[in-house]
Amino acid sequence: TRVLSVASECAPLVKTGGLADVVGALPIAMAAFGDELRTLIPGYPGVLEKVSQGEVVAEFTDLFGGPARVEAVQAAGLELLILVAPHLFERAGGLYNDAMGQDWPDNPERFAALSFAAAQIAADGLGDWHPDVVHGHDWQAGLVPEYLAALGCAVPFILTVHNVAFHGNAPGDRIAALRLDPGRFHADHYEFWGQISALKAGLMGAAQITTVSQTYAEELMTPHFGMGMDGVLRHRRRDLHGIVNGIDIDVWNPATDAEITPYTTLKGKAANKKALRAEFGLGPAKGPLCVLVSRLTDQKGIDLLLHALPALLDRAGQVAVLGSGDPALEVALLERAADDPNLAVKIGYDEALSHRMMAGGDCILVPSRFEPCGLTQLYGLRYGTLPLVALTGGLADTVINASPAALAAKVATGIQFSPITAEALANAFTRLCDLYAEHKVWTAMVRNAMKAPVGWDTSAARYHALYEATAQK
Ligand code: ADP
Ligand code: GLC
Repeated sequence: TRVLSVASECAPLVKTGGLADVVGALPIAMAAFGDELRTLIPGYPGVLEKVSQGEVVAEFTDLFGGPARVEAVQAAGLELLILVAPHLFERAGGLYNDAMGQDWPDNPERFAALSFAAAQIAADGLGDWHPDVVHGHDWQAGLVPEYLAALGCAVPFILTVHNVAFHGNAPGDRIAALRLDPGRFHADHYEFWGQISALKAGLMGAAQITTVSQTYAEELMTPHFGMGMDGVLRHRRRDLHGIVNGIDIDVWNPATDAEITPYTTLKGKAANKKALRAEFGLGPAKGPLCVLVSRLTDQKGIDLLLHALPALLDRAGQVAVLGSGDPALEVALLERAADDPNLAVKIGYDEALSHRMMAGGDCILVPSRFEPCGLTQLYGLRYGTLPLVALTGGLADTVINASPAALAAKVATGIQFSPITAEALANAFTRLCDLYAEHKVWTAMVRNAMKAPVGWDTSAARYHALYEATAQK
């Protein structure tokens, strides 16, 4: 199947979170099934720096306020379509916000432009390459079905929800500015409580909807996790599929990882642990060395960690954190680390260090309030760094909790806590320390974890089937 993939991020070119990894991994995973993906992304400065100039395959004299073009280039094994639109994407700052962390005021136009360009490509094709399906990711691609309808193009749309927290809303008076059909400003299309909602448009207009784990698919239909979209998702429940993310098992391979002292068994982690402690300025300790690699936002439960921390530190455990994001969370972590020699924090984004943390840690922490899939627990499994996670979303689906039954059956791969509170996390820390102290049990869990299937095989097969069933040939 020929698939036009549309997203605001794509690793290794531009990434703020797991969305980028999935968008970058899918074309390669799907090629094994004969699916051809071309990936349309915005031409941010960081992207334009990394790729050479490509062939111009589409041009717009006025794409939401300025001229724009789409360039086809190959990079990192991907067939990329880069939307070059200087007035929308070539500016200093973040992908979605300025240097002060404020959302760009024209975000609705910026990603409407991305969606508009996608619809135009679907309608016109690229030479003799005509997509059978448009596959959009999150709200940034949500308006695609609106523009497809306006163009009278019947190519079906699949939407993948990576995070329902972001709706991409705009005030109702931006209908003309966003070149939307005012006749469709209606609850069946893109209207959401009087606003324009790109995510709602995508959810209503998609032929099929996927999200990144089975549990999140079910959670999405509840008021607590649906974040306002639960009604829409219940309405679309027959076309909603949970397909869990995989990770790139070549990039994340402890036996060959160039960032670490490679290993294949628990014993081999010792050298990495020593190096990691040194790198974080942590002394030796009897308890488990926990690591956390994350965006620092409310979603990620950092405040729960700070509350529950004594339960781990009292048992001679340690924590090394790498992350960046919400300034208040950064400060809270740094202040606590200044007081406690067994908590070490690095603020920043550092891919190489994240590999060294997976290799050197005993346990990867993911105490998220909600987590559509989560990738770091998957890296942890592969590196024998046992996940301690909240029981939600993809964290529920990818970790086997060390319950008495799972331990007896010798299938446990980590620890889950529920409800998602500081108290339950503190109890989980106690369980962690108990398990860590039982060397035989711990070793068996590490062995199970390192064998857990975390690659793309199974999920790629499901996307393949979905593409095939949805495509209009
Ligand atoms: P989310 O997409 O919600 O941020 P995921 O767990 O799906 O959560 O993906 C996060 C990705 O970003 C992972 O690949 C993780 O290793 C990476 N990451 C997050 N923060 C950092 C950081 N500070 N340094 C390096 N990698 C990071
Ligand atoms: C989102 C989610 C995360 C998921 C990622 C990739 O950013 O927060 O849980 O793993 O998308 O699908």
